[in-house]
Amino acid sequence: MDKLIQEHRKQLGNFEVIDFVDEKEIARLRAQLDVKVPMELHWTWNYGSEVAELRNLYEKGKQGQWNAEVDLDWSTPVDRSEFVINPAVSMLAQVCQLMGKDEATQKAAAFDELSYVLSQLLHGEQAALQLCGQLTNVCDKMDEKWYAASQVIDEARHIEAFSKLIERKLGTIYPIGPTLKILLDILLEADTAQKKTLGMQTLFEGMAVGIMDMLRTESRNKLVEETIYRVEQDEARHAAFGVLMMRRVVREATTEERNELEDWAYSILEALNANQQLDMLNLLGPKYGIDPLNVTQMFVSLPNFADLNSIPYMHTVVPNLRRLGLITERTDGRWRSHGMLVESQPGVKGVPATS
Ligand SMILES: [Fe+2]
Ligand SMILES: [Fe+2]
Repeated sequence: MDKLIQEHRKQLGNFEVIDFVDEKEIARLRAQLDVKVPMELHWTWNYGSEVAELRNLYEKGKQGQWNAEVDLDWSTPVDRSEFVINPAVSMLAQVCQLMGKDEATQKAAAFDELSYVLSQLLHGEQAALQLCGQLTNVCDKMDEKWYAASQVIDEARHIEAFSKLIERKLGTIYPIGPTLKILLDILLEADTAQKKTLGMQTLFEGMAVGIMDMLRTESRNKLVEETIYRVEQDEARHAAFGVLMMRRVVREATTEERNELEDWAYSILEALNANQQLDMLNLLGPKYGIDPLNVTQMFVSLPNFADLNSIPYMHTVVPNLRRLGLITERTDGRWRSHGMLVESQPGVKGVPATS
């Protein structure tokens, strides 16, 4: 199996990272706004429900609608002179502290990092919006089309909520990281509904739920916390759609087809994990005198690297992939050696398939 983004890989001790350093290439990737995608469209004349569990999820989606403009309290201030998030979960703030920088600098670093992470979630929301629009075409059952359509409006609301939060309260929408742009394009370009659903609903939305859960619990600002809480409620439903769809696909797949899906899922997450936080560090590190590769080298060499690194993976995406039978003994070792899978971790839950 070929690794993705091979040309930007370099060895840091035992860990192979993906590191983009050519500004021109990064600018070119970001300027690539038009992406050719193979699209199949399926009509169906069966308007009745064929997959009851998807129809139930669609009903839950209808009941769970909210309005980003009126249901969030936009009068809540976000004070950049305070820690907006627990500095213990901000890599930039931690490194600034280690370097002996004053508290004001640590606060500014934590604020910048939160803005960066929320910006990446925002760009991911746009990808989810577009991918679910594709699913309304490529899925062949009416239940799937209805559910995908309901997710389109959820994703539009998430874009609205995050872009308003960042523009009104944080000030800067940071550009998409090059690794994320490439991987999201791979999902949008995928030629089957199965790969699109596995890639977006199971992998990326599972990761997003893990990251949002961490940001929400560590946030020190009510509006940030409430916004993420609202989005997360919807995302849990989206991840559940991934499980319900993929459960049927995996059940009917041949061993060869299942191995292909398993390898594909691994290659996407391996590339995401190989970047660590280098795209963020390359953009924001220099402002704080931080050397991105040194910091990453330090992190991947920590004795508890696997425990720390696996937190967002073990939250939802790994439990759901295991539930689907898409992490098996055949691939267990690879996941473990990349620090994406640990045997046990407090708080590991996964999203119940019926939520
Ligand atoms: Fe979303
Ligand atoms: Fe979503």
